[in-house]
Order: sequence, then C-alpha cells, then structure tokens
Amino acid sequence: MNNLLSIDDLSKEKIFYIIEKSIAVKNGNKLYVTMDSYIENKIIGLLFFEPSTRTRFSFETVIYKSKGNVLNYNEKISSTKKGETLYDTIKTMEIYCDLFIIRHPDNDIFEKITKYTSKPIINAGNGSYEHPTQSLIDITTMFEHNKNTNSIFKNILFVGDINNSRTINSLIKCIYKISNSINFYIFSIQEDFNPKIKNFIKNNNIKITRVFSYDECIKDMDFVYVTRCQKERQNLDIIDYKKEMIITPNVMKKMKPTCGLLHPFPRNEEIDIKCDSDSRSLYFKQIENGIHVRRIIMEDILSKTQDFNRIKSHGTLDGGYMYSEEY
Ligand code: CP
Repeated sequence: MNNLLSIDDLSKEKIFYIIEKSIAVKNGNKLYVTMDSYIENKIIGLLFFEPSTRTRFSFETVIYKSKGNVLNYNEKISSTKKGETLYDTIKTMEIYCDLFIIRHPDNDIFEKITKYTSKPIINAGNGSYEHPTQSLIDITTMFEHNKNTNSIFKNILFVGDINNSRTINSLIKCIYKISNSINFYIFSIQEDFNPKIKNFIKNNNIKITRVFSYDECIKDMDFVYVTRCQKERQNLDIIDYKKEMIITPNVMKKMKPTCGLLHPFPRNEEIDIKCDSDSRSLYFKQIENGIHVRRIIMEDILSKTQDFNRIKSHGTLDGGYMYSEEY
C-alpha cells in the first residue's frame, strides 16, 4: 500500500496480512524478527494537530527501535503560529520526510493534503471520521484473543460516544471488510452515527441493533468495545457519560468467560480500574499490539519506496551524475 488514509485503502487480504505478521513479530517469529527494516535511516514526520499519547509514542517507539529518525511537528512552536498555511507546512516538510504520519481535527483533511504532496501518508486520526491504524490494532487484538481462548467471533457491542468515535467507524469498516456475518450492537449516548459512516452503513445494508441496557445483550457478546465521551468534539451540549454504561466488575460477571473487553483509550470513567485485573480486559494488550501493528504498516508502506532509495548517486569528474545500484 502507498498510503493508509482509510480502511477503504485495504483489501481483506492486506488486513489479514497485517494481523498475522503483527502477531508473528510479537511472538518473536525468527523469519520476521530478523528481517531488514525499511524504516532504518528514514526520516518520518509526525504531524499531530491534536493531542495524543499512544498513537504518537507507539509510532516513535517503533521508529527508534528500527533505527529510523523522527521529525516531530509541534503546532505551538511552529511557523503555523506566524500564519503559515497548511499547504506551505506540508510542502516544506515533504522536503525533509520520507513518510508523514498525520492527526488532524478536520474529517476531510486528507482530501486536501493528498493534493499537496505525493509522499506517503498514514492517517493517525482525522476528526470524528477514521482512525485506521487503531482499528487494525483492535482487530489484531481480537484475533489474538480468539486464538488464545479458542472462541468464535459473532457478536460485538459498541458502547459510548458512537457519533464522535473515529475508532468505532474504522472498526465497523474493518470488521465488515473481513466478514459480513458479524452482528453489531450499540449502547450509545446519542441517537446516531456521523453522516459519513451512516452512508457506509446504509450503502452496505449493515444491520446495527441499538440497546438501552447491558442486560439486553451482554451475555451473548464476544467483544465489548467501549469509548469515552469526546467532549472536545461536542459543539453545543456536553453530554455526560451515562452511569449505567460504566463497566464494573458486576457488569463483567454477566459477560461470557471468553468475551473480550476493548477500549482504544484514553479512558475517563467508562471502565472501573477494578476491571483491569480481569483476563478478559484487553485494553493494555491493544496498547502493546500497537507497536507491532504500526511497525508492519510502516514497513509495508516504506518498502514501496525502497527501489528509489536503493539507487545511489555519485558525482562524476565532469560535474554530471551517474546512478548505480547501492547493493
Ligand atoms: N487510541 C488513541 O488514539 O490514543 P491517543 O489519542 O492517546 O493517541
């Protein structure tokens, strides 16, 4: 793949490739652990126009471990503060970077940025629309869990701020891409999905069942995926997280022994920390898997530019250049 801007950029086969390769790397499969890194010596621009802990630091961790280099754009101390346009920032950064990793509050940001640069881009979250690397981490964690517990995936319940959750939007797309026989349930603080994902659900005839309490469905769920209330995206009324949505050890007692509990984090009050010691709580595994999944995604994208990078230029005595294969 050349870019990862949306789950739409991935085939079913590519999703399985990322899942399997990430788990193999995590488990220390020699074939992969000793492979050449395409990240080595590359300069990767992290442009985050919104806060982040896991996404930014997991990418940075992989880059450092793979002997690559990071340019960390920080809006507060950049020339954006002096009125520089996004266009000029991207045109400047593309001179320095081999790959962009970008997070931005605008849902439509990549329609603009892809017109400004042909350098590869990974979407690290665009507004309330998509967060494709997170959903690849989520689906990898789900596959790993099912393999460990020998269970099958049939039903998933999404909980929380459905309307603003880019992680849920991308995960619905990702799950639907690999199987159209999964049953989706939502326990939501709002009525609806945001318009872009609503069209996707409508166009693909995806059935989503809305519930109003855990008791309606939780005993049948294979996964429960919880999200926080994204207060930063609510323009008018701040909607409080409903008390009855909070996952406590009592709620977990009603879940199947093999049910996996996921959360992309950051967590606010949605899951009681007393649940952390339950082996069905997978959110810290999601964070750990983030390193492996994001490594595979970066390696895959950078391997596409490698042929160009393997050509080395040498100055010649007459001032011209001749090009030769480095290896
Ligand atoms: N899941 C996730 O995107 O976390 P951060 O906002 O901390 O990057």
